Amino acid sequence: MNAQQDDEALLRISGLRVGFGSPKHRLTVLDGLDLSLRKREILALVGESGSGKSMTALAAMRLLPQGAAVTAGEIRLDGQDLIALDDKAMNKVRGARIAMLYQQPKIMLDPTATVGSQVAEAMRLRWNLSRAEARPKVIGLLRDVGIPEPELRAKSYSYQLSGGMAQRVMIAAALSAEPEVLIADEPTTALDVTVQAQILRLLRKKRDEHGLAILLITHDLAIVSSIADRVAVMYAGRVVEQGPAREILNAPSHPYTQALLRSSLMQAKEDGRLYAIPGHVAASHSMTCGCRFQPRCTLAGQLGIEAQCLSDEPRLETVSAAHESRCWGKGREGRVHAV
Ligand SMILES: Nc1ncnc2c1ncn2[C@@H]1O[C@H](COP(=O)(O)OP(=O)(O)OP(=O)(O)O)[C@@H](O)[C@H]1O
Ligand code: SF4
Ligand SMILES: [Mg+2]
Repeated sequence: MNAQQDDEALLRISGLRVGFGSPKHRLTVLDGLDLSLRKREILALVGESGSGKSMTALAAMRLLPQGAAVTAGEIRLDGQDLIALDDKAMNKVRGARIAMLYQQPKIMLDPTATVGSQVAEAMRLRWNLSRAEARPKVIGLLRDVGIPEPELRAKSYSYQLSGGMAQRVMIAAALSAEPEVLIADEPTTALDVTVQAQILRLLRKKRDEHGLAILLITHDLAIVSSIADRVAVMYAGRVVEQGPAREILNAPSHPYTQALLRSSLMQAKEDGRLYAIPGHVAASHSMTCGCRFQPRCTLAGQLGIEAQCLSDEPRLETVSAAHESRCWGKGREGRVHAV
């Protein structure tokens, strides 16, 4: 379902463009991104390194790095345009209604504040709680994310935590004010499989019990398969395919998604070697007017549609109900392993 057409979207990103630098020397990293996330939905955002997943998350939080700016498009939370909000209004939304787990948790934690006060911050702001009122909730949250001896840990500082422990504290802090939307950027990368499973169970529980909507950014297709309702595949700053998780994982339509699946650990060859997608994600300044995947795609040649692929950018077109793909070869025969 196209983002603009999804009436039930809680978070709706439409035509989003984000670039670094000045108008004269702009490096465009998101280029017309459309994405929608419904209440109680877990949407996995996947794609190779550099495809723009973290920029999408940071744009939605209005926390783009210095030098980056939104140059076009809308980001709406329950109809409210987040880009149009002033900083004060956005500060009220951030943490309380839309929260984020960052790719590098230790950098995001304040080394001068205790773990407990950082987890308490968003809930205290949202519900105007005293430290004493927040304390039992903080301990409960730390316990929920699997922190042993939460009463003791609440008094420690982030530099005393391991990477995995810091990530769990970040998760507790992000869920502190019971946000409607959680953006989780590789939330379990630093964790061992047991803790990873525990965190995924917790996210699922928050979704089931509180209707939490989760935009889950991950490289791990096993996690996608275990938790996601829908998947959006990003390539060079745009969504190239999206649809129900089972369908995308079992019957990908876009040549890039097919290649991505083959390169994943789930698809490891019997001899243990991995398939790598030849070439690299195109840098925005080298993008042509045609399909961005064209330099790496062999399907165009197989179908004899190179000229069209080089000159025109394909639109997202329906593959089946709620499943869309951005490829001129869609529906044409002979297109099984394209890359
Ligand atoms: N501070 C920066 N200055 C210039 N370009 C940047 C900066 N940060 C990111 N980029 C560029 O923006 C593009 C998108 O980066 P982004 O971090 O969103 O990728 P990603 O999909 O999250 O990758 P990964 O899977 O490695 O986390 C990349 O081409 C990257 O090089
Ligand atoms: S539009 Fe053409 S180049 Fe792009 S993925 Fe489809 S077949 Fe390949
Ligand atoms: Mg990233």
